[in-house]
Amino acid sequence: MSEESGIYRGLVSYGDRDFSKYLRRTFLHASGRSPESLDRPVIGIATSTSDFNPCHRQQPELIRSVANGIIAAGGLPMEFPTVSLGESFLEPTSMVYRNLMAMDVEELVRAQPMDAVVLVGGCDKTVPAQLMGAFSAGRPAIQLVTGPMSTGRYQGERVGACTDCRRFWARYRAGEVDAAEISRVERNLATTAGTCAVMGTASTMACIVEALGMALPDSATAPAVHADRLRIGEATGVAVVEIAAARRTSSQVVTAASVRNAVRVLLAIGGSTNALIHLTAMVGRLGLRIDPDELNELSATTPVLVELKPTGAHYMEDLHASGGLPAVLHELRDLLDLSALTVTGETLGERLGSGPVWVDREVVRTLDSPARAEGGLVWLQGSLAPSGALIKRSAADPALFETTGRAVVFSSLADLSERIDDPELDVAASDVLVLQNAGPIGAGMPEAGYLPIPGKLARAGVRDMVRISDARMSGTAYGTIVLHVTPESAVGGPLALVRTGDQIRLSVAEGRLDLLVAPDELERRRAELPPPPPAPATGYRRLFHEHVLGADEGCDFDFCRPPAG
Ligand code: FES
Ligand code: MG
Repeated sequence: MSEESGIYRGLVSYGDRDFSKYLRRTFLHASGRSPESLDRPVIGIATSTSDFNPCHRQQPELIRSVANGIIAAGGLPMEFPTVSLGESFLEPTSMVYRNLMAMDVEELVRAQPMDAVVLVGGCDKTVPAQLMGAFSAGRPAIQLVTGPMSTGRYQGERVGACTDCRRFWARYRAGEVDAAEISRVERNLATTAGTCAVMGTASTMACIVEALGMALPDSATAPAVHADRLRIGEATGVAVVEIAAARRTSSQVVTAASVRNAVRVLLAIGGSTNALIHLTAMVGRLGLRIDPDELNELSATTPVLVELKPTGAHYMEDLHASGGLPAVLHELRDLLDLSALTVTGETLGERLGSGPVWVDREVVRTLDSPARAEGGLVWLQGSLAPSGALIKRSAADPALFETTGRAVVFSSLADLSERIDDPELDVAASDVLVLQNAGPIGAGMPEAGYLPIPGKLARAGVRDMVRISDARMSGTAYGTIVLHVTPESAVGGPLALVRTGDQIRLSVAEGRLDLLVAPDELERRRAELPPPPPAPATGYRRLFHEHVLGADEGCDFDFCRPPAG
């Protein structure tokens, strides 16, 4: 490597280069490293361990394996911490802080002298934040996910976070499970380190990052506590030293072709709706976009092959034991661009080789006998969502795909939680529940799109209704739920104009979402809208309020995306 590489990279800040070198070495000696090791290629390891992030609990052990791989391949591992986002512990929502973590990763990767970086993380917002940052920093990078949780047991039944969490909670709300039992259940749902055990957002991101080519083959699915996870960590450490030497940047790997491959995989795994926002934000950092029409076209021609919860019956550990993502990619190979380059320098086709040795067809179906003939996601547009909305068809009830119904409107999260279980609430199973002011600016875009079935209907046995909002939904949730309505209601999107009693039409077949109210009436209502919420006075929250883009642009910050053209 040239002197511009390694620990001497970017040495200009003291003017006198020799003095700068001398000073940098002085402080590196304080770290106890030998003078020889300082001449090796420097590999950053971006870590995100935190007591508030139990999904990353085994990271210290995993990072040791990465470092061992880097050393074995002749590199110098330099671990550094970044922001850590534990999904369940952030207020108002983890979504608000994804871009903060992305900025942290971007600046630390750029500012510190490293030739390449291993991004270690897993919980929902972490992988997108790390790749957004690394893509913007432009330094060679490879992703290493922490891996999913293993399942637990509750009274003989295998359970895992967090589709089963929701199922038990729905039974508790319906009065089928009492308070003592729900507290026994909660101790068994998340029993190991690792990310949620189903095809939620974390698992979806792990799979699509492998499909994008930004992680090692067969690295998405190994459970966090499985020995395979440590072996993958070590192999990632070995690989990154070669990636650094080749100066293979992410913009060589992430192209229109690999993005299409990733979207195919997102659809074929029945992945989380959140992943579309994150993938849009990630590839947006490289000037690429996901075209809504192309998404629907890919969705129409990509069958769902993977039978994981929330849409199927299995868990990530089962997918790992069934050939992992390579089994899915191999099955999809005729629909993929196999010439796409991956981070290790081989093409996707070369990676796939002759295919997996054994696949459990209960978990990974064949193209001829898919779980569903069409892909999981449908982009909707119409008078209620001029810039788009999303429905997870694979998690929804087909009987509700073509619905015209009466809106029952909740004006905010607080209004929803106050009234949803009111026995006097005027609501029927054929109505359409609408939640306003839960978009990025309105409320930080929480996973509140999974509106609960009103208490009185839940107790009467109603399990699904059409629900519409500008919020997100957890990847572990299911139902006929329209999300990400854009523009959001807090900035005056048509969602803000809906009133209880209006008719709303959803057509999944036509990809439409319409508010059936006369334009002059909507104009009259618009004049009565309250002003948008004021920006917070200071700090990061102010930056977020002033610069966050809509869901159709991945909720990235406007100033973080490269200028058009
Ligand atoms: Fe971390 Fe689900 S809470 S992945
Ligand atoms: Mg989640």
